[in-house]
Amino acid sequence: MAAKRILLIIGGGIAAYKSIELVRLLRKAGMTVRCVLTRAGEQFVTPLTLAALSENKVYTSLFDLKDEVEMGHIQLSREADLVVVAPATADLLAKMAAGIADDLATTLLLATDKPVLAAPAMNVRMWLHPATQRNVVTLRGDGVTVMEPDEGEMACGEYGPGRLPEPEAIKQAIDDALARAPAAVPLTGQPDFAPANHRPLYGRRLLVTAGPTHEPIDPVRYIANRSSGKQGFAIAAAAAEAGAEVLLVAGPVPLPTPPGVVRIDVETAVEMAAEVEAALPADAAIMVAAVADWRAADTRAKKIKKDGSGHVPPLALAENPDILAGLARSAKRPPLLIGFAAETNDVIDHAQAKLARKGCDWIVANDVSADPMGGETNRVHIVSKDGVDSWDRLPKQAVARKLMEKIADELDKCSPADSD
Ligand code: C5P
Repeated sequence: MAAKRILLIIGGGIAAYKSIELVRLLRKAGMTVRCVLTRAGEQFVTPLTLAALSENKVYTSLFDLKDEVEMGHIQLSREADLVVVAPATADLLAKMAAGIADDLATTLLLATDKPVLAAPAMNVRMWLHPATQRNVVTLRGDGVTVMEPDEGEMACGEYGPGRLPEPEAIKQAIDDALARAPAAVPLTGQPDFAPANHRPLYGRRLLVTAGPTHEPIDPVRYIANRSSGKQGFAIAAAAAEAGAEVLLVAGPVPLPTPPGVVRIDVETAVEMAAEVEAALPADAAIMVAAVADWRAADTRAKKIKKDGSGHVPPLALAENPDILAGLARSAKRPPLLIGFAAETNDVIDHAQAKLARKGCDWIVANDVSADPMGGETNRVHIVSKDGVDSWDRLPKQAVARKLMEKIADELDKCSPADSD
């Protein structure tokens, strides 16, 4: 098989140094890498470093006539299997969304007919700004794969989403994009009009639950399961990226709403059950939420006081509705119903039992023995009546994308849900 060819556009930003590691990983995987540095990118990494690592010429200027003789910018933009923008700054995303072509990088991005993957990196406020979020929705609508940035401490001292995903995660996203991309045809003077869009869930309606539920005991205390909501949110994001209409019913988690996703926030299992019911019909429901099994039988209107006597107040519990099992029995049961199961031992056996008990089509069993809840990766097994599909440990985003491919394949066997 021919080596995959990556055109890597490196924007300006402190995270640009990570592109060096990315080039190393891509070369190690046997890929050919051509780097393009924006003027701002040149402030952070040097063409010399990138040339040495990529073992290829590094391009920086549109007006370098020598480059035009050796290789025109149209050819440069198309003689790749995938165009990767990392870091994709707010400015680059805005120009891409608006179709501005005022330097080599943006001209290549406008001229290419190949799939484009962008790994954003910017200050948290810039990422959350409505303008950037609008640009991301536009780009995803245009078929660009825009990764979710990582969350954490930023170089500027602020905290939140906006960090460049780690090079391993970008490499994984590149592998996924290449697996989806149509085979590249070398340019022969005839433009290759293979569609860059890969939206296998276009026209489908997906319902996702995510996060924990909080069951109030009194105004300050609640019962809950541990859940970061990250996997559920990544699934909602990947579904929207794949072109689906996505409704996300989310328990209390401080995560931003993924672009293109309609989010309904709930607090309790009873509220979540009602919103799930109201959201139907759907082609598929993916129930990722860690719903609390019990709620307080009577919620106190006032805070229960500790009186110092050592007296422990009784706490009567009532069972919560099992939303997944209820949906499986409902007349509006989605054609594809998927449950999750976090297990620490006998993962497959427990998942098989849960599949039968809940009446769903697949159980995505995640092994939480090696990885605490709230981590960035997941090792999952998809358990269905057809058997067990075990995946390697992957970043949660990659699990979500791979799951979307599997869901799209499955739904292709069904007809779209009625939307009236
Ligand atoms: O029974 P358990 O909590 O282990 O089952 C996990 C699966 O069932 C998840 O898909 C979860 O979202 C769903 N569930 C639910 N309603 C509940 C409990 C779990 O939808 N009350």
